[in-house]
Amino acid sequence: MQVKKAVIPAAGLGTRFLPATKAMPKEMLPIVDKPTIQYIIEEAIASGIEDIIIVTGKGKRAIEDHFDHAFELEDTLMKKGKMDMLDSVLETSKVEIHFIRQKQPLGLGHAIWSARKFIGDEPFAVLLGDDIVENDEPCLAQLMNQHELTGKSVIGVQQVAEQDTDRYGIIDPVSVDGKLIKVNKFVEKPQAGTAPSNYAIMGRYVLTPEIFEYLGEHELGAGGEIQLTDAIQKLNEVQSVYAYDFDGQRFDVGEKFGFIETTIEFALKRPELKEQLLDLFEKKLLEKRTVESAKY
Ligand code: G1P
Repeated sequence: MQVKKAVIPAAGLGTRFLPATKAMPKEMLPIVDKPTIQYIIEEAIASGIEDIIIVTGKGKRAIEDHFDHAFELEDTLMKKGKMDMLDSVLETSKVEIHFIRQKQPLGLGHAIWSARKFIGDEPFAVLLGDDIVENDEPCLAQLMNQHELTGKSVIGVQQVAEQDTDRYGIIDPVSVDGKLIKVNKFVEKPQAGTAPSNYAIMGRYVLTPEIFEYLGEHELGAGGEIQLTDAIQKLNEVQSVYAYDFDGQRFDVGEKFGFIETTIEFALKRPELKEQLLDLFEKKLLEKRTVESAKY
């Protein structure tokens, strides 16, 4: 069955970006001039998703406003002939996006479970906002293809450094032979030194609807939260869940340095910003060298 619906959880408090996220959803923090959540939505659309449900919480109204029409702004831009700006504003109001509130902050697994009525009895996608993936064939489209071939749930993974495995859901692969991987076990944030591999779950999933049975058990896992990874492992015990080592560069916008790095990488892709940025780096490097050489 074709995957047409996607869930994007956006209920987290965004504490890593305080105070910016005190009154503004972390999903609205921009990379150059586009909110992070818009990159995620564009990937879903480019993959062929038709309906998107965003699971929000308190203080997230700006996300709803962002994907709505802004008549006054559109009218003003139109009258002033600022067509490029008008296009960029209209871009966000083209898609059918639905919103639902997660009633209690009980974890990622609970946020996905909140969308069960919207999904019904069909396979669906999940995209997490902390990961932006760049590739000609979108990351989600790659997983959807694998789902069509296998009929099973498919979880996007990539390898991470050994010392970072405790920050992710990690798979214990049966064997790694190509990009589609059979999995013994999915483990959420294994303690340092205990990870069964360095293949980490990267915030892209295609899941069969049976996942809701296990999410509905509301069992608490790592960090005292209802974990999506734990429900995936339970599903894996009754119907194989595959991992897929997808192609693409992944940017971690969920933590400060990753966010800054992504901003710089994306700004360097803009012709109108590139030269200025490179000049700035050159100047900073020179300053650094001058300070260093003064030490000797
Ligand atoms: C979540 C998932 C984890 C996954 C990660 C990817 O963790 O629970 O399995 O590896 O996203 O970004 P979080 O970063 O929300 O703690």
